Amino acid sequence: MRILKNIFEQNKKWAEKVKQTDPDFFLKLSKQQNPEYLWIGCSDSRVPANQIVDMLPGQLFVHRNIANVVIHSDLNCLSVIQYAVEVLRVKHIIVCGHYGCGGIQAAWENKEHGLIDNWLRHIKDIYRYHQSKIDVLETDKQKVDLLCELNVIEQVANVCHTTIVQNVWKTGQELAVHGWIYDIKDGILKDLNICVTNLEEISEHYRIK
Ligand code: CO
Repeated sequence: MRILKNIFEQNKKWAEKVKQTDPDFFLKLSKQQNPEYLWIGCSDSRVPANQIVDMLPGQLFVHRNIANVVIHSDLNCLSVIQYAVEVLRVKHIIVCGHYGCGGIQAAWENKEHGLIDNWLRHIKDIYRYHQSKIDVLETDKQKVDLLCELNVIEQVANVCHTTIVQNVWKTGQELAVHGWIYDIKDGILKDLNICVTNLEEISEHYRIK
């Protein structure tokens, strides 16, 4: 019970399987990581970053938190972004939300959940910014689904507004920020067709001169 033996057994089998396809896989990865993508997603166990895009260790640099939120004072998320763009020089940052997100649902409701309510306040704010677009929808499901999408769009903007991303664009380094959403009901990713690639595409209000 205390040592969770089954997990260690599963791990050994998995490592063996990987080595069967590529005997040097772990040796090569131990020398360096060179991911092309930073994934910012939800902590939800049903949205495991590497698995849903069928990528191996080494291909994705990952940050996950409840409801895939990018907050300007969150040193954890900001450090991940900085390391990813400045040191690893990833070419793409993907903010990936998902339908059926418990965090978004909780922010939508008025029940108290403890500490987490402070984190989810950022999502309540997004509802307030877009209330007119959301309130006209018929069902609660439609409303929460739209809030999931709007949250992704908002977080893409938050990534772009960071001094880190703006300064990287200023140097001419190639970096695209994308907004995607995943459907836990069918395993399919949808591109929300937002892709920000330079300073001119962000609101002047946030732009550093
Ligand atoms: Co979620």
